Amino acid sequence: MNTHFAHMELNEAINHKTSQFYDDVIAGLRSTPKRLNSKYFYDANGDKLFQELMSCPEYYPTKCELEIFSKRTAEICKKMIADGDAFELIELGAGDAMKSTCLLQYLLEQKADFTYIPIDISENVISYLNISLPLTLPGIKINGLNGEYFDMLKQAASNSGKRKVVLFLGSNIGNMPVDKAIDFCSYLRRHLSKGDMALMGIDLQKNPKTVLAAYNDQGGITKRFNLNLLTRINRELNANFELTKFDHYPTYDPETGACKSYLVSLQDQEVIINGKEKVQFLKDEYIYMEISQKFTVLQTEQMAEKAGFKPVDRFFDSKKWFVDAVWIAG
Ligand code: AVI
Repeated sequence: MNTHFAHMELNEAINHKTSQFYDDVIAGLRSTPKRLNSKYFYDANGDKLFQELMSCPEYYPTKCELEIFSKRTAEICKKMIADGDAFELIELGAGDAMKSTCLLQYLLEQKADFTYIPIDISENVISYLNISLPLTLPGIKINGLNGEYFDMLKQAASNSGKRKVVLFLGSNIGNMPVDKAIDFCSYLRRHLSKGDMALMGIDLQKNPKTVLAAYNDQGGITKRFNLNLLTRINRELNANFELTKFDHYPTYDPETGACKSYLVSLQDQEVIINGKEKVQFLKDEYIYMEISQKFTVLQTEQMAEKAGFKPVDRFFDSKKWFVDAVWIAG
């Protein structure tokens, strides 16, 4: 395809989101080492693959958190309801809201006065939730927001003077390096008022083999999940990645608790993005795709305190692999 035409075509079709995606991909693949941002995993197919991942045998975090929510529903909801005043229940990275449904259902049964505000980077997810949740949970007040956590949080936080309860579940916090996770929690704190609550679902350090297996499932779903970002770049940014020329390489370092995923180039190759940006890969060169940080309980509490929260309660699954921690804005 003519280079000038290809660029024009993309430019014309481009909206702000696509151009941000383009800039991030080019900057990431131009840097050393090469990297891509895992927040871009979640297009429609990425959402589907993540659903599949959550129910595959090796991926334990979702099962642990669901166990906590089903066994400790009343206690967790009691913390949220507090004195019984109206509150906004803001869920960052809501996904299909499968994890929070159990809590939402119980809150509705208790006639708690709340509006559910799911926030997600995936447009598909938010339009699906806005339509489907009122059908599955009659009576729910919902106001889903599509966008980046921080932008939408700002919007949600300025919407009303009501008390806020923020859900940040599924160890989404682990998809940031530790220093960024602390910054994130501090930022979250700044958008809340004293006494507001955060329920943080955090994956804990455990047997390294258990962690690694969760990111290296036998069925190859994690591999497809990672490769799907290359497919997305091909489709949305007019690139020509050949998926068979990359392999998935997950690692876990028990010393730091960092679980990382890479895509490794299987040969010397050149990829062209948008008809003009040429990216060279050497054989065995890697793209750093994702971090899924695992914490100790102590680290989670230090993180809370550094960010201006008071950690007041912890709910564990029976294996103590995962914690849902209650933090109150101090
Ligand atoms: C969404 N996030 C918490 C998942 C995780 O465990 O880091 C994403 C994921 N990546 C590979 N498997 C699951």
